[in-house]
Amino acid sequence: MEDRIVDGEEKQEDIFEKNIRPQSLDEYVGQKEIKENLRIFIKAALLREEPLDHVLLYGPPGLGKTTLAHIIANELGSNIKTASGPSIEKTGDLAAILSTLEPGDVLFIDEIHRMPKFIEEVLYPAMEDFEIDLVIGTDGKSRNIKIDLPPFTLVGATTRAGDISSPLRDRFGIISKLEYYNAEELKQIIKRTSRVFDMPIDEDAAEELSKRCRKTPRIANRLFKRIRDFALVEGHTHITKELAIESLNRLKVDQYGLDSIDIEYLTSLITKFNGGPVGVETIATSIGEEVSTVEDVVEPFLLQEGFIKRTPRGRMATEKAYDHLKIRHNESLF
Ligand SMILES: Nc1ncnc2c1ncn2[C@@H]1O[C@H](COP(=O)(O)OP(=O)(O)OP(=O)(O)O)[C@@H](O)[C@H]1O
Ligand SMILES: [Mg+2]
Repeated sequence: MEDRIVDGEEKQEDIFEKNIRPQSLDEYVGQKEIKENLRIFIKAALLREEPLDHVLLYGPPGLGKTTLAHIIANELGSNIKTASGPSIEKTGDLAAILSTLEPGDVLFIDEIHRMPKFIEEVLYPAMEDFEIDLVIGTDGKSRNIKIDLPPFTLVGATTRAGDISSPLRDRFGIISKLEYYNAEELKQIIKRTSRVFDMPIDEDAAEELSKRCRKTPRIANRLFKRIRDFALVEGHTHITKELAIESLNRLKVDQYGLDSIDIEYLTSLITKFNGGPVGVETIATSIGEEVSTVEDVVEPFLLQEGFIKRTPRGRMATEKAYDHLKIRHNESLF
């Protein structure tokens, strides 16, 4: 997965590109419903001088969860403290983070589904009553202590809402699912990035890129940067459609935004497993990818675009997949 240009996962280079991250709800493109609701809830919280209810953001990688968490803090005029599920290994880790909170702070926990269950339990009273119960010491000498916390807002992000236990999910007052972006929104994001990088892009070039970025802003931005490299090296002052197409082809991104891993997945599903149904573990093994990568990154887009469907017995290729790979679907022969 290392070099997959269209994987939605955050990479080191993205981390240094904070300047392309929108800072306010107005700058944040798309996700209309979520934005409208958040605007109201934030306003109400500010009027009441109470913290915003806890927010859970979920959806495939690269759709803007981290960006939105920072925007929520900005709009509240609060500080944001960040942590990630896998890095919280002991209850003490969580207690340490919680004890740094100041009134009204936003605590952002990324990949919250990867937090161990016994740590979740520390979070429940923190979310509900702004207090934590800790057990200090061991065995015979242990005692419970209660620590009061200032009112704060927890913003959790996850690519897997299904992996969050229901007691945790129930403690979020606001639960929002981020959707894939439409072409118009992606074009807007691409044009914004073009302005930030001071590299103009033609309307039809932006259109082309918007169709080939897996409907994901992070991928649109990453592809933009690669095309910009081609432009620079080849002496172009702006990005034309021709250059965009040429670059995308060189990057092996096809006209649907599918890359070699997607194609491998579909080819394997069709040729090795006769189009399915087949279990995700089997298909992941056959293409040498982690099950979690296949489930979180590869499949959501293939499902959304109708290349595959999920059935109780496993994944199945659709007509669209057969057509796209130009493989005859011979089911009708039997
Ligand atoms: N609505 C948006 N408008 C403009 N740019 C966006 C939007 N959403 C995301 N982006 C851009 O896409 C990039 C990826 O977004 P972000 O890091 O917030 O995704 P994420 O959902 O947190 O992904 P992950 O699940 O991998 O953590 C950001 O750097 C940002 O520039
Ligand atoms: Mg993120």
